[in-house]
Amino acid sequence: MTKRRLAESRLLHGGDYNPDQWLQYPDILKDDLRLMKLAKTTTFTLGVFAWSALEPTEGNFQFEWLDERMDAIHQMGGKVILATPSGARPAWMSEKYPEVLRTAENRQKLLHGGRHNHCFSSPIYREKVAIINRKLAERYGSHPALLMWHISNEYGGDCHCDLCQENFRTWLKSKYSTLDQLNHAWWGPFWSHTITNWSQIESPSSIGENMVHGLTLDWKRFVTDQTIDFYQQEIIPLREQTPNIPITTNFMADTHDLIPFQSLNYSEFAKHVDIVSWDCYPAWHNDWEETKDLAMKVGFINDLYRSLKQQPFLIMECTPSGVNWHDVNKTKRPGMHMLSSMQFIAHGSDSVLYFQWRKSRGSSEKFHGAVVDHDNSEQNRVFQDVKAVGEVLEKIKEVKDTNKHAKVAIIYDWESNWALNDAQGFAKATKQYPQTLQKHYSSFWKRDISVDVVTPSHELDKYDLVLAPMLYLMSEEIITKLEKYVQNGGNLVSSYISGLVNETDLAYLSGWPTKLQNIFGIDVKETDTLYPKDRNVLQYKGRHYEIKDYCTLFETKGASVLGTYGEDFYQGNPAVTVNDFGKGKAYFLGGRTEQAFLDDFYQELIENFNFPGNKAISHPLGVSVQLRESETHHYYFVMNFTEKKQHVELKESFYELVSERDINGEVELPIYGTLVLRKEK
Ligand code: GAL
Repeated sequence: MTKRRLAESRLLHGGDYNPDQWLQYPDILKDDLRLMKLAKTTTFTLGVFAWSALEPTEGNFQFEWLDERMDAIHQMGGKVILATPSGARPAWMSEKYPEVLRTAENRQKLLHGGRHNHCFSSPIYREKVAIINRKLAERYGSHPALLMWHISNEYGGDCHCDLCQENFRTWLKSKYSTLDQLNHAWWGPFWSHTITNWSQIESPSSIGENMVHGLTLDWKRFVTDQTIDFYQQEIIPLREQTPNIPITTNFMADTHDLIPFQSLNYSEFAKHVDIVSWDCYPAWHNDWEETKDLAMKVGFINDLYRSLKQQPFLIMECTPSGVNWHDVNKTKRPGMHMLSSMQFIAHGSDSVLYFQWRKSRGSSEKFHGAVVDHDNSEQNRVFQDVKAVGEVLEKIKEVKDTNKHAKVAIIYDWESNWALNDAQGFAKATKQYPQTLQKHYSSFWKRDISVDVVTPSHELDKYDLVLAPMLYLMSEEIITKLEKYVQNGGNLVSSYISGLVNETDLAYLSGWPTKLQNIFGIDVKETDTLYPKDRNVLQYKGRHYEIKDYCTLFETKGASVLGTYGEDFYQGNPAVTVNDFGKGKAYFLGGRTEQAFLDDFYQELIENFNFPGNKAISHPLGVSVQLRESETHHYYFVMNFTEKKQHVELKESFYELVSERDINGEVELPIYGTLVLRKEK
C-alpha cells in the first residue's frame, strides 16, 4: 500500500465540529473561529453525520455552508479532516428506499432513527454514498485546508436482510467451494445440522441457528469483510480525486474494560486505512479501579492500535471532560485532561482530537463534554484545560512522527476471542481473554518496557519475547509460525486454554497439537474450570501464589518443571514449565495466577534481556514512563497516575520540553503531573 502521510508538522489538536447543527446561529459560527484560536486548536473534523444538511432532499445538494467553514478554517491557519456522511442517512432516504435500513438478527426490520443502522449490502445505499462522496471529493479535493478523509463513523454492527444473506452465501461459496467442505468445517451432522442446499444457510439468530460455532465464526468474518468492502466502495471517488490525501476511519474500544472493539476484526481493517485512528473514552476516576490500573488498560489498547500498522496513530475522539453514555458520566478532575492527553502521545498518538468542539443544544449529546459549553465562555475550566493542552502540544511538536520500538510482543487475536466467547465450556464469566492479556501487559507497563500488542499475522522474528496467553484458536499456520519463531531463538509464553481448536473452531484430534507438544515439551490433558470461590496454589521457586479460575492438567515430555500445583487431586503436578526448543525457549503457564506471580515471573525473564524502555528514571508505582524515539533522540513521557504528589529520580540530565529547561536529580510530580523529557541518543 502506498504510504500517505499527513501534510502537517503540528500535532493535531481540535476535533469533531458540527456547524451543520448551528446554521441558524450565525453569531455562534462566527464566534467558533475566535474560540478555536483561543483554545489553541487547529484541526477540525467536519461533516460527520451532516448528510441532511448536505443533501436536504434527494439530489438537492447544499455545499455553501461547508465551503464557507472550510475557507474560514483555512484562513485561520487550520486544517480539516473531512468526513463522508454515511454514518447516518437523511429521513427522505429511509422513507423512499426502505432497503437502506438494517434488519436485526431477530429478522425485525429497523425503522429510521438513531444512526449506524444502514445495510452494508443495499445497492441503493452504496449508490447514494458513492454520489455524495464523489461530490465531496470533486468539490474539496484540492481545498488547501483538506488534511485527511474520515470515512463514515465508527463502522460496526451487522444486517440480516435478504441481500446480506445472499452475500453471505456467496462469501461462503467462495470460501468452501462445496457443501461437503462447509459441512465438515461446521461439523454439520451435529444435531442434524447438515446443509444440503446453499439456500438453507442463514446468518446466526436468536430465533434460529446459534449453536453452530463454525457458522458464527464465519458470520463474524463475513461482517468484517462486508464492512471493509463497503468502506472500499466509499473511498473509490476519494482515491481518484485525491490520491495523496490519507484516509482513515475511526475505530473503537469496548469501554468498560477498554478491551478491543469486539465486532470487527481491526487487524484486517487496518490494512485498508492509511492511518489508524480511534476514539478513546476511559472512565477516569471511576469507583471500581485505581487510576493507575485504568491507565495500564489505556496503555494496552493504544499499543494495540499503534501496532496494527506499527506507526503513529491518531486519537480521533476523546472528551475534554465527561461523556454522556457511561453509566455515570463523571467529569475529569483538574490535571487529568493534560495527563490523559500526554498518555495518548506517549503511546504513539500524533493527535488529541475531541468529540466535540461545541456542545450541541438538543438531543442525546447535549450534555456530552465539549470544548465550548452552552455558555460559550472561554473562561470555563474545561476550555482552559483544552487550551493548556494546545500550548503543550505546540511545545512538544517535535515528537510527531516518532515511533516506539519494542522487543516484547503480546498477541491479541480477534478471531480467537470470537471463538472463545462462543465456546460453551469453561466458565461464562471468567474467560476474559482480553482482560488476561492486560494483566500480562501490566507486568511490562509497570516497568516502563515498551510492548507491541500484535495480531498473529504480524512478523514475530524481531521480538525477543512473545507472549501468547489464552490463544484458544490456533490454525496450523499460526502453530508453524510459533514453532519457527522459537526454533530460531525466540522466547514464547503460552498458557491455559491455548491451541484447543483450529481456524473453523474444530477441536484438534491429536490431543494438544503435536507441534505444540514439541515446542513446549508437554502434553495438555485437561482444563479444570474452577468456581469463582475456588482457589489452588502455585508452588514456584519456594514461593506460593494464588491460582483461580483455570488449571491445566498436563504431562511433561521433555520440559523442565518450574512450578507445581499445591492442592487438589493434581497436587504436585506440573503447573509452570520451560522447554528448550531449537535455539529458543517455550514457557507454559498452566493456571490463572494472581498478578504477583506474573510480575515475578516476567521480572526473571526481563533480567535476561535489554528491552527498550526507561532505565534512566526511577519512580514509585503509579508513575509510568513511556518512550518515543526519533533517529536522534529519545523522548520520555513521565506521568503520575496517582492522587498523590510523587518524587521521581532522574539519573541523567534531560531537557524538559514544556518548561524548556535542563533537569536532573529528584523532581516532584504534582498529582496527575507530567514531564516530557528529551535526551540525545
Ligand atoms: C463516539 C461517536 C461520536 C459521539 C461520541 C460520544 O462513539 O463517534 O459521534 O457520539 O461517541 O462520546
